[in-house]
Amino acid sequence: MAVRKPQPLKTIGSLVLVGAGKMGGAMLDGWIARGLTPKRIVIVEPQPAKPIKALTRRGVTLNPKPGPKAKADAAAIVIAVKPQTAPDAVPPLGLYVGASTLVLSIMAGRTIGFLEKTLPPGTAIVRAMPNTPASIGRGITVAVANAKVSKRQRKLAGDLLSAIGSVEWVDDEALIDAVTALSGSGPAYVFLLAEAMAKAGIAAGLPAALATRLARETVAGSGELLHRSALDAATLRQNVTSPGGTTAAALEVLMGPGGFDDLLTKAIAAATKRSRELAG
Ligand SMILES: NC(=O)c1ccc[n+]([C@@H]2O[C@H](COP(=O)([O-])OP(=O)(O)OC[C@H]3O[C@@H](n4cnc5c(N)ncnc54)[C@H](OP(=O)(O)O)[C@@H]3O)[C@@H](O)[C@H]2O)c1
Repeated sequence: MAVRKPQPLKTIGSLVLVGAGKMGGAMLDGWIARGLTPKRIVIVEPQPAKPIKALTRRGVTLNPKPGPKAKADAAAIVIAVKPQTAPDAVPPLGLYVGASTLVLSIMAGRTIGFLEKTLPPGTAIVRAMPNTPASIGRGITVAVANAKVSKRQRKLAGDLLSAIGSVEWVDDEALIDAVTALSGSGPAYVFLLAEAMAKAGIAAGLPAALATRLARETVAGSGELLHRSALDAATLRQNVTSPGGTTAAALEVLMGPGGFDDLLTKAIAAATKRSRELAG
């Protein structure tokens, strides 16, 4: 499916953000940068950080007493609390849910079924799985909607999520476990690659500081090249591999039995299984 282009967020109604931590805070920054009027934002957050508190001076409402005004007004409620907080944090949100309210949850492992059980009957729900590059607006999020989500609400969810990076949609919620294992947990695999390359450089005789810098910049630069290039990863790899050369010698090891492909297949299968076990 096509990657959504960033959309300006000027025209949507009011928005309730529940949990303004790392992910919620990143989304909030993205929304405001895209022109969402701070006056339309309501934040529910027990321990707001300084920048969140400062937003009240720009018109954001922080920790209001739930009431009929919020209920009538909320176009979307975005849930960005930790999954373990959900049994406490989600039920009171029913007060904000009106006939046209969209609930967008980014909680890992909290299923549409859980949200449907916890929110008023008939609530339109989108469950989404972002990843940490969201904090610099370069995340990738996969979203899935329940049957109550209208076309307009789906667009709204896409617009809200595109504030932290690219968005893909799937129809089958069961795929979210594999998505979690690939892109949700994926940044950790890439950071591990940088760590392992640095260690291998030290083992090959480089000073530690130099090996660490070379590994970091190689991973970051290659990621950026992949991001900007129209070529796929395999072609970019082939383009730096001369037959019989140094890269080919390394790839023979990495692509051989027990190499990258085997390891990542096993790693992602383990993460998918764990995601299934944790889901609820
Ligand atoms: N970080 C990631 O890479 C990533 C990737 C995919 C999905 N997610 C999901 O994104 C969600 C947020 O993750 P995060 O890393 O942003 O966590 P976080 O930084 O801990 O943010 C969660 C925020 O919610 C607040 N909170 C707790 N109870 C609340 C309540 N009852 N009502 C309103 N707010 C409440 C927390 O406040 P206190 O600090 O006071 O508890 C905290 O500020 C999680 O569900 C996670 O599964 C994260």
